[in-house]
Amino acid sequence: MTEIRSNTYSVFISNDISKEINRFLKANKSKYSKLFILVDENSLKYCYPQLVEKIEAFEDGEIIEIDSGEQSKTLEVCIQIWSALSEYGADRKSLFVNIGGGVIGDMGGFIASTFKRGIDFINIPTTLLSQVDASIGGKVGVDLNHLKNEIGVFNNPAAVFVNSNFLNTLDKRQILSGFAEIIKHALIADYNYWKKVMNADFADLNSFEELIKTSVHIKNTIVSEDPTEQNTRKVLNFGHTIGHAIETFSLEHENKKHLLHGEAIAVGMVCEAFLSYKICKLSKDELSEITEFIVGKFKSVKLDEMDTHRLIELMKHDKKNEKGDINFSLLSAIGKCEINKKAKADQIIEALKYYSEQVKLMA
Ligand SMILES: NC(=O)c1ccc[n+]([C@@H]2O[C@H](COP(=O)([O-])OP(=O)(O)OC[C@H]3O[C@@H](n4cnc5c(N)ncnc54)[C@H](O)[C@@H]3O)[C@@H](O)[C@H]2O)c1
Ligand SMILES: [Zn+2]
Repeated sequence: MTEIRSNTYSVFISNDISKEINRFLKANKSKYSKLFILVDENSLKYCYPQLVEKIEAFEDGEIIEIDSGEQSKTLEVCIQIWSALSEYGADRKSLFVNIGGGVIGDMGGFIASTFKRGIDFINIPTTLLSQVDASIGGKVGVDLNHLKNEIGVFNNPAAVFVNSNFLNTLDKRQILSGFAEIIKHALIADYNYWKKVMNADFADLNSFEELIKTSVHIKNTIVSEDPTEQNTRKVLNFGHTIGHAIETFSLEHENKKHLLHGEAIAVGMVCEAFLSYKICKLSKDELSEITEFIVGKFKSVKLDEMDTHRLIELMKHDKKNEKGDINFSLLSAIGKCEINKKAKADQIIEALKYYSEQVKLMA
C-alpha cells in the first residue's frame, strides 16, 4: 500500500483497497450516519461487486445509479440526485461515496459539497483518467450547456482510494484517454518520467501501477502548493486551453460520438507544444519528440472539419482567462512548464494547422 498525503486528505493506492476503505470507515464510524453510493451502470457492474463483497458497510449503503457518460454531468442530473438524498433522509452526517470515473467523481463531489451546505465524500476512482487526475485536487462540478465544468467549487474529498485492478475491465480507448493526463504530468514536471511514459506497456496493465503512483504524486504536489489555482497550479492546464475547446466543440456537434476528454487533450498538447516552440523556447527536437509520440499513439482528430472561429471563441471563454487574453501554460522544455503565456489568435490557428499537417505526414 502506498499513501500519498495532501494538506487535508490521503490518497491510498493498493491492490487490496477494500482493506484501506474498511480501515477508514471504522476510524470514522461515529462521524458518519449513513452511506450514499454513486455509480453508473459500468462501475455498478464491474467495480461495486468487488467492493461490497469485502466492505460490510457498503451493504447498507443507498445506491444511486446514473447513466454513464459526459452527457450525465449536468445540473439536471444533480437535481435528481439531491432529490433522492432528501427523499432517503440524508443528513449532514451522511457520507457520499463516488465509485466510477471522472464524471462520477466531479459530479458526486459537487453534489456532496452543496447538499445541506456540504457533506463528506470519498472517491474510489475506477478509470485510469480518474485515478491519475480527476479524483485528486478538489475540483468538483458539472457542465452547463456543453461548457465544460462551468458550474463548480473547490472542495477536497475526505480520502481517495485507488486500485489499478479496476482497469482490467476498461476498454483500450478509455485507457488511452487517461494516458493523456499521464503524458501531461510527465511533460510539465519530470523529464525522467517522460522517458518511462514513452515506454509504457499497454499489454500489461499491472505495470501501470507505477505510473499511477508517479502521476498522483506529481498532481498532488502541484495542487497542495496552490489548491485554488491562483498561480502555480495552472501548469496542469497544459494542453487544456485548446483541448477543452476541441472537447466542447465535439460535445456540441457529435452528441453520442463525441471525443473523450483525454483524446481532446492529446490534440491540445500537440498544438500547445507547437505554441511552446513558438513562444516559450521549447526546442524543435523536443517538439518533434512530443508530436511523434502523441500523434503515433492517439487516433487522429479532423481539426480541419471544426470551425476555427468557434474554437477560438471557446478558448476565450476559458475560466483561466483574464481581461480577454487567451492564457496558456506552455513548456520551455520537456519537464518544465511556464504559466500565464499569452498567444494571439493567428498563432493559435497556426498551431491547429500544425497538428493537422503532422497527422497527414505521419499517416
Ligand atoms: N476534477 C478534475 O480535476 C478533472 C481532471 C480531469 C478530468 N476531469 C473530468 O473527468 C471526466 C472524464 O473522466 P473519465 O474519463 O473517467 O470518464 P467517465 O467517468 O465517463 O468514465 C469513462 C467510461 O468508463 C466507464 N467505467 C468506469 N469505470 C470502469 C471500469 N472499471 N470498467 C469498465 N468501465 C468503467 C464509465 O461508465 C464510462 O462509460 C470529464 O468530465 C473531465 O472533465 C476532471
Ligand atoms: Zn484533463
